[in-house]
Amino acid sequence: MQALGIIGGSGLTRLAALDVDRQEVVTTPYGDPSAPLTFGHVDGSPIVFLPRHGSAHTVPPHRVNYRANLWALKEAGVGQVIGVAAVGGITAALAPGVLCVPDQIIDYTWGRDHTLFEKDLSSVTHIDFTDPYCEALRHDILVAADGIGVPVKDGGTYAATQGPRLETRAEIERLERDGCDMVGMTGMPEAALARELGLCYACLALSVNWAAGKTDGPITMAEIEHFLDSGMAQARKVLAAVACR
Ligand code: HPA
Repeated sequence: MQALGIIGGSGLTRLAALDVDRQEVVTTPYGDPSAPLTFGHVDGSPIVFLPRHGSAHTVPPHRVNYRANLWALKEAGVGQVIGVAAVGGITAALAPGVLCVPDQIIDYTWGRDHTLFEKDLSSVTHIDFTDPYCEALRHDILVAADGIGVPVKDGGTYAATQGPRLETRAEIERLERDGCDMVGMTGMPEAALARELGLCYACLALSVNWAAGKTDGPITMAEIEHFLDSGMAQARKVLAAVACR
């Protein structure tokens, strides 16, 4: 059985339900991934886990080696990858605490190593990215969550911003005009690199705050941490249910 790859985001540096078999320090032609790969299983189903921001949560979104992370998971024999991500909610359905499986993405990042197709090419390569997420995996996440009674919103547009700072009020207004429902800092180039590698990739997003300007006053880390703690506990249950589908 092919292992499910899970890239953990903020609040998810470990998977509690995971029976760990081994950890492996790997390197890739693109450098080192964020952390050693953790190989394990949930109820007999194989998982390869990688914390996006490193084991001690020290790698900021714009410094993540996305190419190495995806390459390492592919090399480990993974066919499907779920990228777990904390986001800010822009539209009404994305209140803090809501889990969501987005179906579209707009890339506002810049200066990141965003492709594997740039050197030693036999020909210029363009991937299709009309639907950036793997529909089969999106469906499996939604069905698995439904099966255990965890509400997860189906669809929405993820705005990938550069970070590490949060956005201005005007930036969020612009993202909303663009049709974005949520904003996070790690969705790209992760999704595109997965597609370049032929991996089936979907995102499980957790809203941990209202985006800038959507409430009175500044966004506080206390608010974010509160929703990270409670929401990631739900996300872990969903991930375990997907692994055992
Ligand atoms: N903006 C960008 N990234 C985020 C946010 C936000 O408000 N919350 C969590 N990740």
